[in-house]
Amino acid sequence: LSPQRWLVGVLHLFYGIIARRPVVGGNWKCNPDSMSKLDGLIANINDCDTSQCDVYFCPSPLHVAYCSDKTTNGAKCTPQNCNFTGCGAYTGEMAVEQMKDLGLSQVLIGHSERRGEFGIFPMDDNNSLATKLKYIQDAGMSCVYCIGEPLSIREKGLEAVLAEMHVQLTPIYSLLDPSSVVIAYEPVWAIGTGVTATPEDAQATHKGIRDLIAKHASAETAEAIRIQYGGSANAANAPDLSAQPDIDGFLVGGASLKPEFKEIVAAISKAKA
Ligand code: PGA
Repeated sequence: LSPQRWLVGVLHLFYGIIARRPVVGGNWKCNPDSMSKLDGLIANINDCDTSQCDVYFCPSPLHVAYCSDKTTNGAKCTPQNCNFTGCGAYTGEMAVEQMKDLGLSQVLIGHSERRGEFGIFPMDDNNSLATKLKYIQDAGMSCVYCIGEPLSIREKGLEAVLAEMHVQLTPIYSLLDPSSVVIAYEPVWAIGTGVTATPEDAQATHKGIRDLIAKHASAETAEAIRIQYGGSANAANAPDLSAQPDIDGFLVGGASLKPEFKEIVAAISKAKA
């Protein structure tokens, strides 16, 4: 039992609940189109008050090195993908060893756009992602791990959604260490569509995911692990979503390219204070 796990266990025993520090990430995806725009985007990140919230941002692979040492508030530059086996003859890939050399300590994996949504062929699946997560943890890095269901499953109802979440989580239950993993729950139908899950629907799904983790990992892990919501999150809907007890933060796409990003960080900082 690591000291941290032990502490989490004790806190859980005495207080029943542990405050989870909020975490908000900005996923720039394949943006911007020119390096000349990076300083402006980094300024949005540096404008965030990180005193009560962890902040990270995910530049495109070509921009990671430039962005890696530009934050002034502890926001973590977090690549959008990595390979699963280190440096070597892996054309087009990025290894965590290279990230660590840049001073990075976190990487995001499993975004639905890499799992094959939006017409792009699948570059990852549940098993390859579990292999990547283990590799990331073995390298001493932390990971933002994305999960989420497509519209066809959401239309069948919450039970079907949670059954799909169980499928996506099954290969990683044993790897879910709250100190090195943040889960980003992103319903695919809400990503980039302007359609956000209602606070009630998002809360019900987050709670369901936490219950799955309690059952298949441990109650302590479920209590301590942070679950972000992603999918058309913005400054307007962040306060209501932040008020939900099982929403610990956001993974923000479109709005992370705008000055309003700092308002999302402020909203959840306030809600969880
Ligand atoms: P969106 O993207 O905020 O533009 O919907 C979220 C994401 O894909 O991480």
